[in-house]
Amino acid sequence: MTNDSSRTTPLSTGDAARGQVNTTAAEIYDEFFVPALFGQFPEKVLDHAAAHDGVSVLDVGCGTGVLAAEAARRVGKGGRVVGLDPNEGMLAVARRRADEIEWQGGVAEALPFGDGSFDRVVSQFSAMFFVDATAAMKEIARVAAPGGAVTVATWAELERSPGYDAMVRLVDDELGSEAADALRAPFTIGTESDIAALVGSLDGPSRIDVLDGAARFESIERWVHTDVRGWTLADLIDDEAETRLLDRARRELSSFVLADGSVTFAAPALVATVSPHSC
Ligand SMILES: C[S@@+](CC[C@H](N)C(=O)[O-])C[C@H]1O[C@@H](n2cnc3c(N)ncnc32)[C@H](O)[C@@H]1O
Repeated sequence: MTNDSSRTTPLSTGDAARGQVNTTAAEIYDEFFVPALFGQFPEKVLDHAAAHDGVSVLDVGCGTGVLAAEAARRVGKGGRVVGLDPNEGMLAVARRRADEIEWQGGVAEALPFGDGSFDRVVSQFSAMFFVDATAAMKEIARVAAPGGAVTVATWAELERSPGYDAMVRLVDDELGSEAADALRAPFTIGTESDIAALVGSLDGPSRIDVLDGAARFESIERWVHTDVRGWTLADLIDDEAETRLLDRARRELSSFVLADGSVTFAAPALVATVSPHSC
């Protein structure tokens, strides 16, 4: 498979640290990563947020919109859902997902909404890419309504996700630290104390939990391809390097492959909910 044909500007390693992908990667992300990994969390995260019929929800760092879509189903016609993301490739895919959701370009650090605009402000697997997490959390609290809640989910640390722990080590060895760092970036708010520190600036009662989860890819080829082409590695790895990585993954990551050829391993998340204006 060749790399992105629709890309106009090459992305940089800084883009990888900020979780920025090209349009083709956003499509691969939605087609393969969402069902394999991200799609199992919106219900759990929205339960934690107590998002229900009739409320307004802002999804910060919505990506291709998997959480916003589940939120729209929950809140019904009486509610409102806005998905915000800085990445146009992600938003282009999100716009195809649902008409009733408002899709908005922007960053968490400067939210284009008035004070108290949303009953629930929710963000899954995006906070690790905020350039200024303190400013972002301040903004997130600002747009939460009195009596509302802020809910943030992050991946638990790499060591609790054995498939990714092994994959990062393999990528480091085969392709170097720059590529490995792009794959490590999603796991950097990975402990209960990390996520407590992230939401610690918000005044109000908080609750932190671990959410069980698992990565499930159809095959080892699909796993490698999704990691390489559906995320920020897409711009750091050429086809030849992808083939080399796959050869080694077949040999060295076979412990994650089941008898039917599919791949599965634990991929837990952390979730924190705070009611910032309740004190
Ligand atoms: C791993 S994706 C998660 C997307 C989506 N929440 C999901 O669960 O599929 C991380 C997202 O965070 C977004 N992001 C990066 N920096 C951001 C920022 N400063 N503010 C808001 N979102 C940001 C990226 O563009 C990307 O879409």
